[in-house]
Amino acid sequence: MQSTAPAPSAEDIRDVIAPLTALEGPMLPMLHAIQAVWGHVPQAAVPVLADVLNLGRAEVHGVISFYHDFRDHPAGRQVLKICRAEACQSVGGNAVASETMARLGVDWHGTTADGAVTVEPVYCLGLCACGPAAMLDGRVLGRVDADRLVLELGVSA
Ligand code: FES
Repeated sequence: MQSTAPAPSAEDIRDVIAPLTALEGPMLPMLHAIQAVWGHVPQAAVPVLADVLNLGRAEVHGVISFYHDFRDHPAGRQVLKICRAEACQSVGGNAVASETMARLGVDWHGTTADGAVTVEPVYCLGLCACGPAAMLDGRVLGRVDADRLVLELGVSA
């Protein structure tokens, strides 16, 4: 489930990252902490991180955009990641993904119109022996098909 907290102020962001300032290489832990609270990394975080870490805003932005795990806008209330890597492909993962997305009416990185579900690709979940694999809000699912995924999501599709 993603956070529904309101857009944060610079002060809110400082409060979240303050406990992490003593870490070596604190930017990634800070970004994870911010995303854990607000469900994404809001634009307001860039100048705050640049200031706290004594970096340029472009450097901070570059790190956020390099790592796919960080999103710059809120996701749906549930995030479904479907594996697109080789082992899952060999057991029909692509067809599972296509059927699931068709039933939800979204494409990769899309969110259903009611904001219920965002579907994202993932490139191996370490469940290669029990593919097709997926992950729903951090919970891994093996040997999935579209029926199972739709059922797990609890949506009508
Ligand atoms: S290839 Fe899909 S879990 Fe490894």
